[in-house]
Amino acid sequence: MNNLKLDVDGQIAVLQIARPAALNALNSETLDELNQVLSEVEARDDVKVLILTGGPDKKDNPYKSFVAGADIKEMVNFTAAEARAFGMRAAEPFFKLMNMRQVTIAAVNGFALGGGCEIAMACDIRIASESALFGQPEVGLGIIPGFGGTQRLARLVGMGRAKELIFTGSNIDAQEAYRIGLVNKVVPNEELMDTAKKMAGKIASNASFAVSIAKAAINNGYDMDIKNAVEYEANLFGITCSTHDKTEGMTAFIEGRKEKNFTDF
Ligand code: CAA
Repeated sequence: MNNLKLDVDGQIAVLQIARPAALNALNSETLDELNQVLSEVEARDDVKVLILTGGPDKKDNPYKSFVAGADIKEMVNFTAAEARAFGMRAAEPFFKLMNMRQVTIAAVNGFALGGGCEIAMACDIRIASESALFGQPEVGLGIIPGFGGTQRLARLVGMGRAKELIFTGSNIDAQEAYRIGLVNKVVPNEELMDTAKKMAGKIASNASFAVSIAKAAINNGYDMDIKNAVEYEANLFGITCSTHDKTEGMTAFIEGRKEKNFTDF
């Protein structure tokens, strides 16, 4: 891979978007590599949580940029058809982040602009370093967000705030992103990766099949009416009750045992 770095440590994978020359902007090659590596990670039984972050900039500053957007130098000569294809090229890996079996955490370590904010929003959870900056500046470039921004931002922070951010193209800092519910947590820069790994470890210590079913229940139920969604949840609840992990988790509780031997089903 030319633009990504994957490190797996036990049950946690850290995937770095590493294009220092362009502040980790997403070009076609990076999107294709992302698509490929996410399929590989999803197929790995040992990985329970994926942390997505940005690599350091050219001066080796790890807190400069998460992802500074889609690659403007690639997009500048796009025709309408090429732009559409570019949007769909991102949609595939972004849906993988959203729907893959493992939990995905964006550790946002700097600029999360345009496609950078959009890829963070495709993850399950966002943790920001205190110097992170979020925004959808596309209308200032004569385009609209093309990697899901008009859809995911409104779903995360509500229509009014999404419209304000997208129509003004203004950036917001990490604290404001936290205040409006765009990120789950803000931490000092140096604590970003430790915080993400700690949260990943806590998630990985639970029954991973149950976690992945809970993820599917939240994602799929969100687009249903409440009656069908609750029935869908009851069906999935039934499935989790047929697992070894359910017997183990409940028996451990009744026996007052802290250690649990989950087997992922
Ligand atoms: N695409 C391509 N190259 C980019 C880039 C991007 N999105 N963002 C930064 N770069 C490149 C710069 O061109 C520069 O390259 P050179 O050294 O070869 O000149 C290098 O990264 C460093 O950037 P700067 O010198 O500009 O760094 P800075 O610290 O002065 O500014 C910044 C940082 C504020 C993030 C600024 O680079 C910037 O505004 N970038 C663009 C942000 C943006 O508009 N993102 C949205 C893109 S559109 C989009 O994402 C559409 C979509 O939804 C599909």
